[in-house]
Amino acid sequence: MEELTFGEAITKARDSLHRFPLKKVRGVPLLEPVAQNWESISSFCPDPSDLLIATYPKAGTTWTQEIVDLLLHNGDAEACRRAPTIVRNPFLEITAPPPIPSGLELLSRMKPPRVIKTHLPIQLVPEGFWKNKCKVIYMARNAKDNLVSYYHFDRMNLSHPEPGPWDGYIHKFMNGELAWGSWYDHVKGYWAEKEKSNILYLFFEDMKENPRREVERIMQYLDLSVSDDILERIVDLTSFEVMKNNPMANYTFIPKIVFDPSISPFMRKGEVGDWVHHFTPEQTKLFDEDYARQMRSTNIPFRTNI
Ligand code: A3P
Repeated sequence: MEELTFGEAITKARDSLHRFPLKKVRGVPLLEPVAQNWESISSFCPDPSDLLIATYPKAGTTWTQEIVDLLLHNGDAEACRRAPTIVRNPFLEITAPPPIPSGLELLSRMKPPRVIKTHLPIQLVPEGFWKNKCKVIYMARNAKDNLVSYYHFDRMNLSHPEPGPWDGYIHKFMNGELAWGSWYDHVKGYWAEKEKSNILYLFFEDMKENPRREVERIMQYLDLSVSDDILERIVDLTSFEVMKNNPMANYTFIPKIVFDPSISPFMRKGEVGDWVHHFTPEQTKLFDEDYARQMRSTNIPFRTNI
């Protein structure tokens, strides 16, 4: 039998799909199917040549994935349209009703070196990644824009819990109650380990400000070397506009029973500072006071505008 495409598998599973509740694993709320598959996920053992791209949801994962794939393929756009993002770079922990392949199933069909995506906070990343000294790229985004992006994503992703009203959503974010837990713990966790574990820690805002510089940093971290022309081409191919129109990178390959673009498109705005259009002055004050408390112990240089 012909193998189903990712989209076809989702369509086949339609009767088992709904907004999944969250279930905690070691104190971190995860989507229920992920929590139920936790033993297999945490015992996954990567190859030392595998690369992990880790992010809090909506921090610029897909953007980073596309840059890395293009760097690994010397800027060959066609090669990077071989399959949708989720098939090219399996999402380690994602688990869904059959016949939708889990991240682990997709990984088992691929030979290393693989590029693996995760949203797990550092303490939940399978031990094998550290034992095998895998390279890890972490992309972080300022809390307010990250929160706005997550809010719109939770509206359109019909497998995530209902976001509810905006004001309440801000509180859920501050309290670490969204899927994959606390943004604050997430960004601080990888920051604290970055030297010891050789993690390349990047910022969404730096990428927007000077994508060429950041693409070059990724290239160097991966011990790759591409010509200046190709570097320029990769910057163009990973601009918001080009990615928004790339069906293999814009998540339109997920049927609308799961990602409903009529509610909000996956490639929504891709900006720094969109939070100003969402937060009232009172919400900003409350959020900033809480932020200062939660981030007191660290000095991560986040920027909320550029
Ligand atoms: P917005 O909702 O603010 O538009 P992730 O891939 O981690 O789910 O993150 C998605 C966010 O990154 C969305 O943010 C999306 O628009 C943005 N994004 C994706 N590709 C981008 C690009 N090439 N340039 C700028 N932003 C991008």
